[in-house]
Amino acid sequence: MAKIKRIGVLTSGGDAPGMNAAVRAVARTALANDIECIGIRRGWQGLINADFIQLTRENVGHLLSRGGTILYTARSQEFMTDEGRQKAVVTCKMLGLEGIVAIGGDGTFAGALELSRLGVSVVGIPATIDNDVGCTNYTIGFDSACNTAIECIDKLRDTMQSHERCSVVEVMGRNAGFLALYVGTAVGATAVLVPEHKLDFERDVIERIRASRLAGYTHFMVVVAEGAGNAFEVGSKIHDALGIQPTITVIGHIQRGGAPTGRDRETATRMGYHAVEAFAEGRGNCIIATQEGSIVEIPIEEAMNMKKHLQMDRYQIMEIMQFGSNHVNVND
Ligand code: F6P
Repeated sequence: MAKIKRIGVLTSGGDAPGMNAAVRAVARTALANDIECIGIRRGWQGLINADFIQLTRENVGHLLSRGGTILYTARSQEFMTDEGRQKAVVTCKMLGLEGIVAIGGDGTFAGALELSRLGVSVVGIPATIDNDVGCTNYTIGFDSACNTAIECIDKLRDTMQSHERCSVVEVMGRNAGFLALYVGTAVGATAVLVPEHKLDFERDVIERIRASRLAGYTHFMVVVAEGAGNAFEVGSKIHDALGIQPTITVIGHIQRGGAPTGRDRETATRMGYHAVEAFAEGRGNCIIATQEGSIVEIPIEEAMNMKKHLQMDRYQIMEIMQFGSNHVNVND
């Protein structure tokens, strides 16, 4: 088997804290294996446009603690077309790239799968704050984003408590509630709305605020996953039902910024290492995932068909912590 000489690495889709740590790990592991590493800028669009930089030991230095991605990122419409992907293949041939490490979420991996069908070997590293990639327990960026949201909500709680108010906070997560449930549990939210749980507004929000008031509380924290509803609408329904005027906070893109946590740096480093080892040992077309605490390689076709469900027992725990009541059927 001929030894691989040169690979490319790119970040695509929404950025996530820890992407830079993954780029660093990919570049340094490649160099340690005498493999040249090219940074493709602006995701799949950069592969189409041959927008690249040479990665060296030095220029990936001081990246562990840096948020965002030095390679920039994009959501490429052109790469979704056959024509666009053919151009990307031409770039790989022109630059002599024998493999591509694609760092991102489901959308990034859908692109990687298409490229692999055109003969370019790809390895995916899951990185998205949403933690919604089916084949892996964990995606880089989730822990950092949760901690950012928790810090924001802790601050909000101080002023909500002083003014005896109700707060409705919307967090990201796209169509999944992993981030909202984790954050809601960690801040002791009065109610958490996630897309995976069919909402009964009266039971899941109004009654919970009422029960909280009856228990003696005078401030309330409602966390809404963006996929479960709009914080302004939730606030106005609370106003209609209870006559109080909630304050609305959409945390938004702040969740995607900032220095990655230790967990994200460490996971990104191990995933980056394993991605390059896969190429160095003659494998490819796989996703580097975490399962039961270990790093595993899953063939990309299989990985794309895997589903991950929100753990409804965790939803139940969140509910019990507030009132000791258990409204949710774990099979909901
Ligand atoms: O996938 C990451 C994510 O931050 C989602 O949580 C959110 O729905 C989306 O990206 C926002 O995308 P954009 O940066 O294009 O606004």
